[in-house]
Amino acid sequence: MKISIVGSGMVGSTTALRLLEDRTASSLVLVDVVEGLARAVALDLCQSAPLRGHTIEITGGSDYGPTEGSDLVVITAGVPRKPGQSRADLLGTNAEIVAGVAEQVARRSPSAVVIVVSNPLDEMTTLTWKVTGFPAERVVGMAGELDTSRYRYFVAEATGVHPTEVDAIVLGSHGETMVPLPRLTTVRGRPLSEILTAERIGEIVERTRNGGAEIVQLLPRGSAWMAPSASIADMVAAIVRDEGRVVPACAYLQGEYGVSGVYLGVPVRLGRRGVVEIVDLGLTSEEMALLHRAAETVRARTALLDELVGDARSGDEPAGNAAEPDPLEALRTESRIRRAVTQVLWERGSADPEEVEELTRKVMERITGR
Ligand SMILES: NC(=O)c1ccc[n+]([C@@H]2O[C@H](COP(=O)([O-])OP(=O)(O)OC[C@H]3O[C@@H](n4cnc5c(N)ncnc54)[C@H](O)[C@@H]3O)[C@@H](O)[C@H]2O)c1
Repeated sequence: MKISIVGSGMVGSTTALRLLEDRTASSLVLVDVVEGLARAVALDLCQSAPLRGHTIEITGGSDYGPTEGSDLVVITAGVPRKPGQSRADLLGTNAEIVAGVAEQVARRSPSAVVIVVSNPLDEMTTLTWKVTGFPAERVVGMAGELDTSRYRYFVAEATGVHPTEVDAIVLGSHGETMVPLPRLTTVRGRPLSEILTAERIGEIVERTRNGGAEIVQLLPRGSAWMAPSASIADMVAAIVRDEGRVVPACAYLQGEYGVSGVYLGVPVRLGRRGVVEIVDLGLTSEEMALLHRAAETVRARTALLDELVGDARSGDEPAGNAAEPDPLEALRTESRIRRAVTQVLWERGSADPEEVEELTRKVMERITGR
């Protein structure tokens, strides 16, 4: 199976490594807007072949040509969070990046299944679905796998068992309206409520919701990549091997769980054509209420996105008229500047994200006079 990964930063490059070592791809193409980065990562991975024994063809560059005819595309392009930022704060910047990537994917790999990773996840998955025009089952977002893995780890830590002995699932949005499900959590087959107090379970649920932020606070730059790449690799394996296994993922709901027209984290069966089925877990009314709250949060933010980029699916133009400045144009300009700044700094030796943002802001100030 030919797999392309767009964005060769921390998550993209680690995902490439995992796919190589899992031997899930027959060929792997890496893309990044920074000239040289994807090529460097591909070359570095090739040079590990004599030691790790993989034989997969790996190439990298900033051109989408080599991605042509991919069966599976993973989108990790975008900026990660900074301390104090929520995933939603990335909406404007990453929307422009992801829309551009999705256009290329649709053009080069019209039959591909797409796994979206860029944040804010639920909104970027919706955007990718709209821009590619692909059927909803072929566009899926990665978040539930990661949130569930974090939750299982925290439960294992609190109960003293091996993490694989914790069975659990986390639904909802990849953010503050995440919905961990303690009622369906078991430890060595026993219900979690028989082992931990409600108060302790509440603490674990809260820590899970902040699992990404906890890591962002500790890092000098960027966000988590190890568990995210492990989660992507698990989804890729389920698709490539046509397993039909149930995993939590961001999928398009059309009436399931009483929600319509929204991408949200739910249990899905994944196979070669993407989402094969959305699985009904039989939630209680309280759990359903939490899921509906998550759906409404995503719906509101997606509407914001439609105002910015237009609802490509319905053919609507972006909101605004000719007399008003087009908000997307400002975003496009900012994104072009950010790309140019990144490229220049990279050529000088290091594209530190703080420096990129600072210089981009200064150039934008000069242009807009603000
Ligand atoms: N869904 C999840 O659970 C999850 C988990 C971790 C990270 N993320 C998100 O994934 C994204 C990547 O995270 P990261 O840690 O790898 O960041 P990173 O900064 O290390 O890498 C991002 C890469 O994207 C590239 N890029 C930017 N614009 C591009 C474009 N137009 N075309 C191609 N490449 C482009 C950058 O040059 C960079 O190399 C972020 O948005 C982050 O928030 C999501």
